[in-house]
Amino acid sequence: MDIFLLLFGCVLVVLCIGLELYFLYALLISKNCKYPPAFPSFGKMKKIALSEAEKFLSSSKRPLRIIDLGSGTGGLLLPLAKKFPQHQFVGYDWDFFVCQILKLRARKLSNLTVVRDNFMNVDLSQYDLLLCFLDTKAAEELSLKVAKEIKSDAMIISSAFELKNLTPQQVFDAKSFGMPLKVYVYKNSNNL
Ligand SMILES: C[S@@+](CC[C@H](N)C(=O)[O-])C[C@H]1O[C@@H](n2cnc3c(N)ncnc32)[C@H](O)[C@@H]1O
Repeated sequence: MDIFLLLFGCVLVVLCIGLELYFLYALLISKNCKYPPAFPSFGKMKKIALSEAEKFLSSSKRPLRIIDLGSGTGGLLLPLAKKFPQHQFVGYDWDFFVCQILKLRARKLSNLTVVRDNFMNVDLSQYDLLLCFLDTKAAEELSLKVAKEIKSDAMIISSAFELKNLTPQQVFDAKSFGMPLKVYVYKNSNNL
């Protein structure tokens, strides 16, 4: 019994140290929390983001390119890539660990690519649909980039954070677990 408790304690200590190290790593890559950490979409916000993306993707007769800017473990990209094999999906994330998890989860999908890099380096003009779930500072920087690079007929779905330099075409109330969340949908350059 004592040995069992000792082993259990050792496993707990190793897990805690692993988590602490991961938080340190996340703090470093997010430039001291200038960018948000890995946290998956959830609740009504996730449902609305997925359903708006699905409407857009199912209405297209040509293959589209979709990017998730900060794809995390694929909470949005995976169900979309499974449902729409005719479209190409790209997940950008600079976190080594979440990229490995997403690569593993997407191993059977030939239409989903995972890139470990800063999404501020991506040429956004190649994409028809942009997904993001960031934070206030990152969304502000991204909105300047989007306004410069986006294709005229592209759509953007931003969960929780408004892209300040752009005008949303629709704003959905996505209150989840008591949090007053919103989903912002931007469509074509006339609105940007
Ligand atoms: C809140 S999570 C969103 C995950 C996923 N999009 C979802 O909706 O479930 C934000 C992700 O963005 C990534 N991220 C933040 N800033 C980034 C940047 N500049 N370049 C690449 N990834 C970034 C983080 O590592 C994190 O995994």
